[in-house]
Amino acid sequence: MKNVQKYSKQYFAPSGVTMDWVKKEGIDKPPVWCSVDLRDGNQALIIPMSLEEKLEFFKLLCKVGFKEIEIGFPAASETEYEFCRTLIEQNLIPDDVTIQVLTQSREHIIAKTFEAIDGAKHAVVHLYNSTSVAQREQVFKKDKKEIIEIAKFGANLCNKYKASAKGKITFEYSPESFTGTEPEFALEICNEVIDIWKPTPEDKVIINLPVTVSHSMPHVYASQVEYMHKNLKCRENVIISLHPHNDRGCAVADSEMGLLAGGDRIEGTLFGNGERTGNVDIITLALNMYSQGVDPNLDFSNLPEITEVYEKVTRMHVYERQPYSGQLVFAAFSGSHQDAIAKGMKFREEKKASVWNVPYLPIDPTDVGRVYEADVIRINSQSGKGGIGYIMETQFKYVLPPKMREAFGYHVKSISDHAHKELQPAEVYEIFKRDFVNLTDIIDVEKAVYEENENGIVANATIKYNGNYTKTESVGNGRLDAISNALKSATGIDYSLDSYTEHDLEGKSSSKAASYVSVKYDGKVYWGTGVDSDIIVSSVKALISAVNTMLKNINK
Ligand code: KIV
Ligand code: ZN
Repeated sequence: MKNVQKYSKQYFAPSGVTMDWVKKEGIDKPPVWCSVDLRDGNQALIIPMSLEEKLEFFKLLCKVGFKEIEIGFPAASETEYEFCRTLIEQNLIPDDVTIQVLTQSREHIIAKTFEAIDGAKHAVVHLYNSTSVAQREQVFKKDKKEIIEIAKFGANLCNKYKASAKGKITFEYSPESFTGTEPEFALEICNEVIDIWKPTPEDKVIINLPVTVSHSMPHVYASQVEYMHKNLKCRENVIISLHPHNDRGCAVADSEMGLLAGGDRIEGTLFGNGERTGNVDIITLALNMYSQGVDPNLDFSNLPEITEVYEKVTRMHVYERQPYSGQLVFAAFSGSHQDAIAKGMKFREEKKASVWNVPYLPIDPTDVGRVYEADVIRINSQSGKGGIGYIMETQFKYVLPPKMREAFGYHVKSISDHAHKELQPAEVYEIFKRDFVNLTDIIDVEKAVYEENENGIVANATIKYNGNYTKTESVGNGRLDAISNALKSATGIDYSLDSYTEHDLEGKSSSKAASYVSVKYDGKVYWGTGVDSDIIVSSVKALISAVNTMLKNINK
């Protein structure tokens, strides 16, 4: 990076701020939310939304619970104008929702903007002009006084049009490129506008402080907000709005710190769509609050559906690791994470815990419409016994004994590793059935009759081994032991019966049992599972399966 000397700071840290907000631990109430998806978000799309797409998105935003929605820049294009008229003329704006429209400080644009909102019950007219050093010098070639004149010109015209408007009009002013503007100058221009608009408690104005381009660390932006918060005229009648963009990846931090420092309102978008790196992602902000026990007053309980509509109408893609909404943000592939999550979920259930603190999951995925089965425990070559056992238990009702979980975990991992792919729960179950359950491919007991005598249980069995049938008579201290001895004599392999467990398979009304048997031979343990409506038969099937597994492995 040899050109580092090309860069130096483009922001102005204000003087006289205390930064005392840093001592606050968090946000204790939600801000006023304003979605700018249909304006800032739309203007950043490769193909801007059509009228129908904007309508579908508008309905989605209302459903999520936004009460303020910037619907466009009606003077900028025919579609934007038409969209505004459609919403008003077709009565599509809910009574508790206020539309917001953006305008530059130019007479014909302001006139067209007011024409566009004619008939709206309540609209916010959002006036802006650029104030930063770079914009003043390079783009507008105007000094500070001339830049103030642009703002005052627009503010006065807004007053004029408001006087004859039928609906309620609220004003918003943005010193665009605020973060590259000297704080004293930003304050001066905002105060000039406030003087013209003369806000009252019944008719407040919004002063929006955009991070048009992010130039500093979040605490510097927040100190700029503090400066405005402490010095703006008529502060009690002014709503301070924050509008962070994400150039430095700090839009969420800028917003959160800005709220601590005095902001009242947030302008942002779903998933952070917007110019360049985007606007602040309102979903992340709202769910950050939610995860701290603060109700954001927005409903993100069905994020998959919101994602689907968003991706369809914007033609954008939600990044897999986008906080809260990405496809993989709740996924645990690694064995240790899966194990901790499975244990955490069990702990939660046993303790009937009311507060969420499951390891590795900042919120309960089901609160945002995700499902544990498909979204959390995901199986690949990094996975382990915890996650695989969890899937087998929660989805397929097989409670594998701990040592078998381990063995099955290694087996599944190695299949995933060789196939170089993730395995779906159904595939894991298929592997289990194929490689462990009711196996008879090398050896099987075709028929067995038991009787008891003074030596124990006698089993008379017909054994099929490698395609050949033999009749055996063997004794054991139980049926399983007797059949095991029959299998040993048929195969000539002196393995030992290592462990045996069982459980009902489908709960209380179950008609089936699952048994798990391990046999040991030459220092190695081999597992098998038996499933049958008769518990004795299921244990024998488990044993036969374990012996088949052993034979398969020692014949390799
Ligand atoms: O980012 C920005 O500065 C804007 C203004 C129009 C508010 O979008
Ligand atoms: Zn913006």
